[in-house]
Amino acid sequence: MKILVTGGAGYIGSITDKLLKREGHETVVFDNLKYGHKESVTGKLVVGDLLNTEDLGKLKNEKFDVVIHFAAYALAGESMKHPSDYIKNNILGGLNLLDFMKEEGVKSIVFSSTCAIYGAPNSLPVSENSEKNPGSVYGESKLAFEKMLYWYDRIYGIKHMNLRYFNAAGAALDGSLGEDHDPETHLIPRAIKAALGQLEFELYGRDYDTPDGTVIRDYIHVEDLASAHLLAIEKLNETKKSDSYNLGVGRGYSNLEVIGMVKKVSGVDFPIKFAERREGDPPVIFADNKKAKESLGFSPQHSDLETIVKTAWKWHTKKS
Ligand SMILES: NC(=O)c1ccc[n+]([C@@H]2O[C@H](COP(=O)([O-])OP(=O)(O)OC[C@H]3O[C@@H](n4cnc5c(N)ncnc54)[C@H](O)[C@@H]3O)[C@@H](O)[C@H]2O)c1
Repeated sequence: MKILVTGGAGYIGSITDKLLKREGHETVVFDNLKYGHKESVTGKLVVGDLLNTEDLGKLKNEKFDVVIHFAAYALAGESMKHPSDYIKNNILGGLNLLDFMKEEGVKSIVFSSTCAIYGAPNSLPVSENSEKNPGSVYGESKLAFEKMLYWYDRIYGIKHMNLRYFNAAGAALDGSLGEDHDPETHLIPRAIKAALGQLEFELYGRDYDTPDGTVIRDYIHVEDLASAHLLAIEKLNETKKSDSYNLGVGRGYSNLEVIGMVKKVSGVDFPIKFAERREGDPPVIFADNKKAKESLGFSPQHSDLETIVKTAWKWHTKKS
């Protein structure tokens, strides 16, 4: 297939793009390189911004079979400081992409959605039908785009797969690509940077109603996430029906458990400075992934915490 990968110079997009090429697909990455890295793209890269329809014009007549839409601003905390940037980029940018697809006759899209659309869940694990109550503008922007996808299916027949990732983590198994955000807000890379002496580690909140007082999250290895995109495309081709799937492993680890694993893998006992809770952080969230397992054949292979941290550690130490 010929696949347009928006945001393919970023963390999850670049690792998925590499897998798609390995599986024999032809890809074109479209990225404005605001958060992505040119070096992470091994094939065709078109530098452009979704907010600029002229940039999208560079992709005309490419005859894509499917779009995988990773491009977005993805920091929940930032979205509360700069709501308008998040709304514009994630909703209007996405809308331009959908209009481009409509004009070009591209009928399928796989969308990087997020567990942030659920907010603080009323019950656990979180299934696809759980109440959606985003606790941040970021989560709201993703939910809004899911709703736009619904209407573009109903009106124009553009079919979608909403893949609601939980916490993407780890690095490419071959050590070639990893998480390289600036600013870095994610727990594992921050803990690794602390172990490497590159930052003072701050942990947000130790008074949550959880066994060790720190928040609990569901971590999914980025290679398992990448594979799920292929499964989603296959399913879409087979059923021609839009759908939504939670992509997590179905169990959570507390921040302190994750930090303990980083200390074990790195062999460095770095200090932790405890800070205030962050606004909008639910105490516990993990996925009910039954639907993805049964219907997509999703079967995480690398998502045990030790493999996640070891692959991330290998990549970060190679990079430093
Ligand atoms: N990392 C996670 O744990 C996680 C969890 C849930 C959902 N997601 C979603 O997955 C996707 C990828 O996340 P990531 O961690 O790889 O983020 P990332 O920031 O590494 O990648 C996003 C890429 O999109 C590009 N981009 C952003 N706005 C653009 C625009 N207007 N035009 C063109 N390119 C643009 C950036 O330059 C970047 O390369 C995002 O949509 C994010 O919301 C990520």
